Amino acid sequence: MSAEYLQRMFGIDGQTAVVIGGAGVLGGALCRGLIGAGAHVVVADVAEEPCKARVEELVKLGGKSSYSLVDVTSRGSIEKLLASAIEQTGRADILVNCAGVNYGTDFLDHTDEMWDRVLTINLRGVFQACQVFGRHFVSQRAGSIVNIGSVTSHLPLSRVFSYSASKAGVLNLTRNVAQELAVHGVRVNCICPGFFPAEQNRKVLTKERVDSIMAGTPMKRFGEPEELIGALLLLVSPVGGQFITGTHINVDGGFTAAWL
Ligand SMILES: NC(=O)c1ccc[n+]([C@@H]2O[C@H](COP(=O)([O-])OP(=O)(O)OC[C@H]3O[C@@H](n4cnc5c(N)ncnc54)[C@H](O)[C@@H]3O)[C@@H](O)[C@H]2O)c1
Repeated sequence: MSAEYLQRMFGIDGQTAVVIGGAGVLGGALCRGLIGAGAHVVVADVAEEPCKARVEELVKLGGKSSYSLVDVTSRGSIEKLLASAIEQTGRADILVNCAGVNYGTDFLDHTDEMWDRVLTINLRGVFQACQVFGRHFVSQRAGSIVNIGSVTSHLPLSRVFSYSASKAGVLNLTRNVAQELAVHGVRVNCICPGFFPAEQNRKVLTKERVDSIMAGTPMKRFGEPEELIGALLLLVSPVGGQFITGTHINVDGGFTAAWL
């Protein structure tokens, strides 16, 4: 297969991709994938030092990258992010919603504060970012949004009550927004990762839980963050994924395929 063919199918040279949560573990891999495919990546996150470090890493890889701070709990902050991406690069073509938080507790110990924080960041943040960037994408009649769901978009996972509800909401919202924006040339899809050890889930991955995850994962291992890149590039690519919208790709070693 020729490099020219792959470039035509999956290359995103000259496009700007904004990765919210790009300073995190999975967001970092997604940034590296977008850089590899030729995009300018705007790393967007609440934490400044990790953003700077990510940009440095991406530039060392030979890519074009910059950062912009955002707090997805604030619509105004997301609006500033869009303006800043356009100011920095002249355009915005791709949005990846990869910010997320999580708490693992017994159900009776799950507090209103946990519920509100998780739902506000993981679900309302995605709603608001889809709206702010969606409005811009509709105005230019082109754009691709990829939301990061989870296996909990399909199956409630014990102990992570607010997280499971938020990720079920992310997949539902993805489908609903996709069916409305399709006619405007805007595609909206979801990637549902299985289990990838990272900051966000370190606290909830006890030995007992790791054993049950392995028992439920046909491939009997955790995912590597870079293993999400193929799904992302398919969903955002200019030819490869143009007729794909309102759907999800599970990258979970078979977790959601297995029952017994
Ligand atoms: N790690 C996994 O196994 C796994 C599995 C399925 C889904 N996910 C999802 O993937 C995404 C990334 O997770 P990760 O494992 O890389 O975790 P991570 O903690 O490394 O990354 C999450 C990022 O979100 C950022 N963030 C938190 N609150 C924010 C806010 N208010 N505004 C902007 N950014 C904010 C954090 O600063 C962090 O950089 C999350 O949505 C998570 O739910 C992770």
